[in-house]
Amino acid sequence: MDATDLLKQFTALPLLAQVVIVPTVFFGLAFVKHIVSQTLLVNKSEPPLVFSWVPFVGSTIDYGMDPFKFFFRNRKRYGDTFSFILVGRKHTVCLGTEGNNFVFNSTLAETSAADIYRGLTVPIFGKDVCYDCSPAKLMEQKKLMKYSLMPDKLAAFVPIFLSELQHYLDTAKSFQGNEGVFDVVESVGVITMYSAASALQGREVRDNLRKDLTALYHDLDKSFLPINFYMPGLPLPVNRRRDEAHQKIAQIYKDIIKSRRQLGPGSKGEDDMIWKMMESNYKDGSSVPDHEIANMMIGLLMAGQHNSYSVGAWILFHVANRPDIQEELYQEQAAILGTDLNASATRDSMNQLPLHKMVVRETLRINAPIHTVMRAVKSNLTITSRDPKTDSDKTYTIPTSHVLVSAPGVTAQSEEYFPNPEKWDPHRWETMGDVPENASSYYLPFGAGRHRCVGENFAYLQLNTIVAFMVRNYKFYPMLGEGVPATDYTAMITRPVLPARLRWERRAKI
Ligand code: HEM
Repeated sequence: MDATDLLKQFTALPLLAQVVIVPTVFFGLAFVKHIVSQTLLVNKSEPPLVFSWVPFVGSTIDYGMDPFKFFFRNRKRYGDTFSFILVGRKHTVCLGTEGNNFVFNSTLAETSAADIYRGLTVPIFGKDVCYDCSPAKLMEQKKLMKYSLMPDKLAAFVPIFLSELQHYLDTAKSFQGNEGVFDVVESVGVITMYSAASALQGREVRDNLRKDLTALYHDLDKSFLPINFYMPGLPLPVNRRRDEAHQKIAQIYKDIIKSRRQLGPGSKGEDDMIWKMMESNYKDGSSVPDHEIANMMIGLLMAGQHNSYSVGAWILFHVANRPDIQEELYQEQAAILGTDLNASATRDSMNQLPLHKMVVRETLRINAPIHTVMRAVKSNLTITSRDPKTDSDKTYTIPTSHVLVSAPGVTAQSEEYFPNPEKWDPHRWETMGDVPENASSYYLPFGAGRHRCVGENFAYLQLNTIVAFMVRNYKFYPMLGEGVPATDYTAMITRPVLPARLRWERRAKI
């Protein structure tokens, strides 16, 4: 029987049978190819591949449910370097301190962050900034951002953080009276958003925030989904709302810039980031266009907001579940800051709260919001890694078809660097000594290398202020029968599984 006979017989079948047969044959062939490529046709020069049964899906579900469990389990089997299939593409993860260094210190000729993050972020942030411009231009933009995040600039932020906290807690329905229950993720989300936007972007943003910006940011935020990471550009309702929200927010910033330009620098009340960018030039002498300033403001607020609210929420859960640490925090800030927080809380005094700092550090160790960092591979890479089966070094080639992955949370949660790593124990930092800050460190919640976070000092100050204010005014308790929630890894940024609530009781004034 030749192909024509086969086709004739097939077309003679009932439609239902044809509809069943075609995908079954396709899937069957893909399945056979998938299994054969993992067993009989293994490419020994590439890193070992985590076995999976289903083509395209590969290890997506296993990894997606709990990336850390997945990494730790496979690290035992394959060593620090192995590949896995995620949404149809091979991803090669490089773990351990050498793996951290390999990914974070890779050169522009070797890897690209933009090629990976562009699809998700450009519709949210907008054109010509961040991953929609050359790496050199991104570095210049980060330099402009850093100026407003320098220690001397941060000093002005503490009163703004405090006033935003006070305003929120005075007006939020769930914080009226002397005790109650609150949605931690939502409340911390509003607090971090208001305080970051107010501090970084100035008075007009502060005035707009409670009206238009909050709802619009929410629409941008909702599009921050894994599906948009892997399949950007789908015509989903959430993406339509994102595009509308982007236009409107960008317009709000552009209007602010326009009116500032009309009023001139004489109208400058505070030296915020928008002013800084309006007055800056790129290296080639060109000024920063208004739409780029607007888009950088959106990008910055999104980048900071996601991470800070997640860490802030985790801190409150840990603290609520450790009444001893909660009391120590209360005593520490009472002793150092005294009775009048508005008068005593400054950048310097907030930095003198050692336990507050250790609480943030320890939470970042266990609950770093970015669990996986990715880069597109631009040229074949070579890596040497210990094979636990033979206890010998092996050298692998990582081809350009792979995505390179770093998960510095693996070293941060490893027994070899942090004894009893599952335990949330802020006091461990008292005896840790100096933790290396370079790309081969075992503790890198803010990344390293050219894409390192610019917001670390800001985040510490913001989170320290939130913790000091909250423990001064309230006592927190877990809901009956609940402890620290499990982690939801299905969102792009890890956060507590919802609903995530705590009980609070108002404290007597110090
Ligand atoms: C607890 C809070 C935060 C954490 C844990 C965090 C974490 C990170 C990490 C891991 C990266 C590197 C990503 C990569 O290599 O692919 C990063 C980059 C970055 N973060 Fe943060 N971040 C935080 C807060 C902030 C804040 C408050 C801001 C802004 C005010 C900010 C702005 C940025 C920017 C602009 C980048 C650079 C992106 C790049 O160069 O590709 N972050 N952050």
